[in-house]
Amino acid sequence: MNVVVLHGSAHIGGDTDTLISSFLEGIGGEAEHNTVHFRPIDMNIAHCRACGECLSGGGCVIDDAMQQVYPAFSKADVVVLGAPMFWGYMTSQLKTLFDRLEAIVSREHFGGKDFVLFVTYRSFYGSMVEWLQRVTSWCGSRCHALTCQTFDPETGRDVPIAVLPEKLRKAETIGQEVLRIREVG
Ligand SMILES: Cc1cc2nc3c(=O)[nH]c(=O)nc-3n(C[C@H](O)[C@H](O)[C@H](O)COP(=O)(O)O)c2cc1C
Repeated sequence: MNVVVLHGSAHIGGDTDTLISSFLEGIGGEAEHNTVHFRPIDMNIAHCRACGECLSGGGCVIDDAMQQVYPAFSKADVVVLGAPMFWGYMTSQLKTLFDRLEAIVSREHFGGKDFVLFVTYRSFYGSMVEWLQRVTSWCGSRCHALTCQTFDPETGRDVPIAVLPEKLRKAETIGQEVLRIREVG
C-alpha cells in the first residue's frame, strides 16, 4: 500500500504520534508498505493565497515543500492524519497543508482512499470527525476515526496516550481493518 502520514502535531512521539505508531503496527509495520511521513510544522509550506491559478488544472504555482506532498498524496491508498485539537480544530500547520491541497481537490486525487484520523484532545474535539466524514463521502473514500481524551477532568491532569492501552489497541485494530479492506480490494 502507499501510505501517507500527516503528523499534525509538533510533538515527536506525542499523543497523536503514539496512536499513529500503533496504527502502523496494525498494518504490519511501515516497512511493509511504501510509507511517507510529512510533519508540516518542520516543512516550508506557505499559506494558500486563493490566487485561483490552480483552477486551470495545472496545480499550485507556489514552489515549496507542498510539491513533494502533492504526488505522494495523490497516489496514496491510505492517508493518516494525526490531529491534536487546537482551539476546536486541527493544528494550524495541518490546516495550512490542507488549504494547499485545494489545488488538487477532485475525486481523482482524493477518491478511493482510506483516510484514518486520530484526534487527541483535552476537553472537546469539535468538528474534526464531521469534517473528514463529509470530505470522504463526497470523494468516494472511507473514513476511520478515533478520538482520544488525553486529560482527566477529575484530577485535572493530562493523561498520556501511552497509558491508555485500549486506545492504542483500537488504533492498531483500525490498521488491521484498513489492511484487510485494501487486500480484499
Ligand atoms: C495551543 C493549544 C490549543 C489547544 N486547544 C485544544 C482544544 O481546543 N480542545 C481540546 O480539547 N484540547 C486542546 N488542546 C490540547 C491538545 O489537543 C492535547 O494536549 C493533545 O493531546 C496534544 O497531542 P500531541 O501530543 O499529539 O501534540 C490544545 C493544546 C494547545 C497547545
